[in-house]
Amino acid sequence: METANKNTQKTTVLVTGGAGYIGSHTCVALLEQGYDIVVVDNFVNSSPISLERVCQITGQTFPWYHADLRNRTQLDEIFTKHHIDWVIHFAALKAVGESVAQPLRYYENNINGTLSLLAVMAKHECKKIVFSSSATVYGDPEQLPLTEDCALRTTNPYGATKLMIENILRDICHADQSWTAVILRYFNPVGAHPSGLIGENPQGIPNNLTPYIAQVLTGKLPYLQVFGDDYPTADGTGVRDYIHVCDLAQGHLQAIAKVQQSGVFTYNLGTGRGYSVLDVLHAFERASNRKIPYQIKPRRAGDIAECYADPRRAEQDLAWQAQYDLDAMARDLWRFYTQNPQGYTK
Ligand code: NAD
Ligand code: UD1
Repeated sequence: METANKNTQKTTVLVTGGAGYIGSHTCVALLEQGYDIVVVDNFVNSSPISLERVCQITGQTFPWYHADLRNRTQLDEIFTKHHIDWVIHFAALKAVGESVAQPLRYYENNINGTLSLLAVMAKHECKKIVFSSSATVYGDPEQLPLTEDCALRTTNPYGATKLMIENILRDICHADQSWTAVILRYFNPVGAHPSGLIGENPQGIPNNLTPYIAQVLTGKLPYLQVFGDDYPTADGTGVRDYIHVCDLAQGHLQAIAKVQQSGVFTYNLGTGRGYSVLDVLHAFERASNRKIPYQIKPRRAGDIAECYADPRRAEQDLAWQAQYDLDAMARDLWRFYTQNPQGYTK
């Protein structure tokens, strides 16, 4: 892959949610590739320790603010203090099940946070944004692999906030042609930075597959529940397009470097390859050199059989392609968990 050129004229990127899982990896990539960054996070689902680790990995420091996006006064002060060229907007609540139980909290945080951010950006004539969307906007796939033109439909409040924000960005770019919005639809982000210093901070009993596997491996949970072995897939278990978080981070840098025009640009960030639950389990067995106990359980409500991306548009327009394979994802996530069994502690 041709990586984006070093940032010679010092572009400054505001990273919302920069202390989070994907945000912290993107901060590392931005700093390593010569960008100046400013981070805003309210730490609702993260810790400032991840930002210290970003400094440790890169040997660089940067300004960060403990602020909620919905606090316009504070955001306005940040934009007054720093000249921001691009915003990468990660900050959101992201747990699907929680969004079903607490829809107002999700709409309030994700939609109001974004509206506040966009208003302050407009006020300061900063009109370039990269937005974290999700493959969840495709709902039950109408075709595979999924292209960016597939029908959009969501099945839960979290997904609805992603689709609403996409629509808000499309409307803004339509109304004011000086805006640039890059919508990145992530498939299933997994893995961690190869240093083992940053990763997804494990909190409580996870819902997603790879943090669950890691907790079985560390003895916190007795066995993996495999949700369904009767799907129309090669081994009967669900298939997803897992993508290494460092590949995902690089996709944001390619977007900033390659998208020069105004308008809305939408890209799938996935590998284009699907792996089953058992494929993932075996990759973690290889990475850890341990057996992972599992039991087959009924299908999880709302799950789809199979989901993977057609990533060709990102390849063509952004010169971006995933580099890491499933074994690297398992190895790097396992390293993070073994080095940080209690999550981020000093
Ligand atoms: P994360 O929870 O680790 O990071 C989100 C960060 O945003 C956290 O640090 C949190 O404290 C912060 N935040 C939330 N609300 C805020 C607010 N109102 N003001 C300021 N900060 C706030 O999640 P992540 O996995 O890094 O996800 C980043 C983005 O990517 C999210 O928008 C998420 O919806 C999207 N996404 C994630 C996945 C995934 O599986 N991880 C998949 C598709 C899309
Ligand atoms: C979840 C989110 C989706 C988000 C995506 C990427 C839900 C309902 N959907 O989807 O919005 O975009 O993550 O972050 O949460 N599995 C098991 N046992 C487990 C956990 C999962 O067998 O303990 C299986 C699932 O049935 C599925 C696969 O593993 O086949 C992946 O599950 P998961 O990691 O939760 O991701 P998604 O279901 O793709």
